Amino acid sequence: MPSLSDSWSVGTLELHNRIVVSSMCQYMAQGDGRVTDWHMVHYGSLALGGAALTMVEASAVEARGFISTRDLGLYDSQQVEGLSRIVSFAHQHGTKMGIQLAHAGRKADVPEPIVAPSALAFNDRYQTPRALQEGEIAEIVERFAAAAKRAVEAGFDVLEIHAAHGYLLHQFLSPFSNKREDRYGGDFEGRIRLTLEVIAAVRATVSSSVPVGVRISATDYHADGYDGHEAARFSKRFADAGAAFIDVSSGGNTPVPPHVYPGYQVPLAALVKAQVSVPVIAVGMLDDPLLAEHVIQSGQADAVAIARGFLRDPHWGHKALQTLGHPVTPPTPYARAYM
Ligand SMILES: Cc1cc2nc3c(=O)[nH]c(=O)nc-3n(C[C@H](O)[C@H](O)[C@H](O)COP(=O)(O)O)c2cc1C
Repeated sequence: MPSLSDSWSVGTLELHNRIVVSSMCQYMAQGDGRVTDWHMVHYGSLALGGAALTMVEASAVEARGFISTRDLGLYDSQQVEGLSRIVSFAHQHGTKMGIQLAHAGRKADVPEPIVAPSALAFNDRYQTPRALQEGEIAEIVERFAAAAKRAVEAGFDVLEIHAAHGYLLHQFLSPFSNKREDRYGGDFEGRIRLTLEVIAAVRATVSSSVPVGVRISATDYHADGYDGHEAARFSKRFADAGAAFIDVSSGGNTPVPPHVYPGYQVPLAALVKAQVSVPVIAVGMLDDPLLAEHVIQSGQADAVAIARGFLRDPHWGHKALQTLGHPVTPPTPYARAYM
């Protein structure tokens, strides 16, 4: 029976435990998508906190795709240097680093005009987007690939394509937001095409030693969207196309918020896990160590991602492992805290 402290592999990369720091936007870049001192201290601290993998926040593949103008970007070579300092520090302390490649689509809160599969505003607080033309979709695929190349230049070990939470790729996946009648819309095959193309383009750009996974929203919580069964089906297609893991979140594309409670997304992770042979990451209110351990031991997911738990306590990983009676290997200057 695997446990939280056991190693696992994504692609050819071995991770020394099953704890992942989940991506969290910090809104602390200074308008040009570049790392600030905040990111150095924040990610530096998380990299010492006991998770084998820390995932850096959603980073925009183009400025038009920022969730907010204070996000990190990966569309300019000037953005690489700061990220590489974060990765280098984490590597010195044995933590692997991932980063999310993101495009907000109709949920971009930026001054310039925004784009989406269809000209439907997310709500009245957002601009109404312009529907992308087919040729422009190919450019967006190229931007994901170019961002992936920069992420690897910065030294990242893992890449995660953000296809969740109502952002651009999710907007294409969901019939709720994708009303296109061309090859990128309509039936299941049309709606999943863009994400498949992004996976293929990113995969073709980076070395096979760099795992490329996908974060999905496994349900829209809406009758006009998709459900967990359809999400499991497209997860399998993503894995077949080269995705090294599936990170299972939910919601964000419709006005319906999920009903949340500890482990609320775990059944969705299990549904996906039943269909794919690559590792599955569960996320969502899993910061009770006993619950996190149960998710792994019961085989519902291969790893757990923790977000707010790590904001409350950047050393959540070491403390969870200690609570569960597993060996703890903190950085040497902190060792006395765990004796
Ligand atoms: C401050 C904050 C920022 C977030 N930013 C991102 C993000 O950049 N990308 C993403 O996929 N999810 C993001 N999320 C969602 C988390 O990764 C996670 O899925 C969610 O918070 C549920 O996990 P938790 O209960 O452990 O917090 C964010 C959550 C928080 C609290």
